Amino acid sequence: MEKIIIEGKTRLSGEIKVSGAKNAVLPIMAACILNDGENTISNVPDLADVRTMIKLLETLGAKCEYSDGELLIDSSAIRSYKAPYELVKTMRASVLVLGPLVARFRKAEVSLPGGCAIGERPIDQHIKGLRILGASVRLEDGYVSASAKKLEGTTVPFDLSTVTGTENIMLIASVCEGETVILNAACEPEVVDLANALNLMGAKIEGAGTDIITITGVSSLGALSDYTVMPDRIEAGTLMIAGALNESNLTINGCRFEHLGALSGKLLQTGAWIEKNGDSSIRVKGAAEIRSIDFSTLPYPGFPTDMQAQMMILMCLADGMSVITENIFPQRFMHTAELRRMGADIKLVGNSAVVRGVREIKGAPIMASDLRASASLVLAGLCGTGKTEVSRIYHLDRGYEKLDEKLRSVGASIWREKE
Ligand code: EPU
Repeated sequence: MEKIIIEGKTRLSGEIKVSGAKNAVLPIMAACILNDGENTISNVPDLADVRTMIKLLETLGAKCEYSDGELLIDSSAIRSYKAPYELVKTMRASVLVLGPLVARFRKAEVSLPGGCAIGERPIDQHIKGLRILGASVRLEDGYVSASAKKLEGTTVPFDLSTVTGTENIMLIASVCEGETVILNAACEPEVVDLANALNLMGAKIEGAGTDIITITGVSSLGALSDYTVMPDRIEAGTLMIAGALNESNLTINGCRFEHLGALSGKLLQTGAWIEKNGDSSIRVKGAAEIRSIDFSTLPYPGFPTDMQAQMMILMCLADGMSVITENIFPQRFMHTAELRRMGADIKLVGNSAVVRGVREIKGAPIMASDLRASASLVLAGLCGTGKTEVSRIYHLDRGYEKLDEKLRSVGASIWREKE
């Protein structure tokens, strides 16, 4: 295992390029189960989660080759419809193969994901959607077992906005007979990226990006040819916060400003200076005095839950009190105990964190608990005095491509060591 060491308080300056989006590429990879061809995808980030999805597709029978951001998935030999516990337990997004497997084989066995560091993550809405489309679904021996004689498009009303739930139903409905209308669909940009990829395969999807998505089923889908995955808005956002800390000055290239509206608005309120250079480059300069603000996480286009832990670091050093409310995953506060060890003043009240800004936080040995928490701990290390050691950074490598190298290239004193 590796840990990351950071000597804090360096002012970052320079340019960083954002990688392809983890949460867009995973469903697009699952979509390749729906055809029998050779799919090529580019701008694929080198992440542990991408490697897990490759392993899962290979377990199903696909042949995959990954090199330098280019991924080839040959789906012609997919013969298995079982996603085993060993893989699903390491990555909850494995549930995205459920819809495509039912569509391809009329049956699927996908292990139920277990507990998760960010709180309860049920998949009842995925199951409800599958049942509405005609599948019979049972939960047995820790697996979701689905089978369907016939799948027919109809209205799928979600009780709440679910990203992977919307994606699973979009995937299966693409090849269902007739028209499917998803009501209360998730509007996240990653849902739009999946719809774009499916449409290039020959699907007929309209309305992605709004809360009503209409899918007219087609009899079969072709292979995906050289699809470029959208940039990772959460990586971009994390780097924007790095720019707002320590009076840094960072230019983040290859991102999409339109995906970063809620975060940009909040960062401006903290006193950070943000400049948009065209549609795909943002410059962020940190203020000497950070102003405290309140914020609440919401589905897109609201403030993303995947940015809550990172934004909290800024509030730890702000000039007053901030109330941070987590509406998506009410228990997603594992990072707060580690931040307190660095001297942050944070109290948890229900699904809110009350943060009182302090003059400085101090480097300490700290431990990552999940992906976004680990990014927030790295940011904390960047602005803490002295040395911070972040252990269990395999969480970071699940979703950030070479974050330490990227930060080093703009002046951070950050390196890896064996634990
Ligand atoms: N929910 C249910 N029932 C369901 C599905 C969801 O009650 O059947 C609830 C969840 O418990 C949560 C809310 O609905 O309270 C939203 O969850 P959602 O289903 O949207 O989350 P997800 O699809 O499992 C994706 C991302 C997460 C991100 C969330 C929210 C992927 C692969 N994962 O998860 O990303 O936090 O949407 O935006 O797209 C991450 O990248 O670190 C990460 C956790």
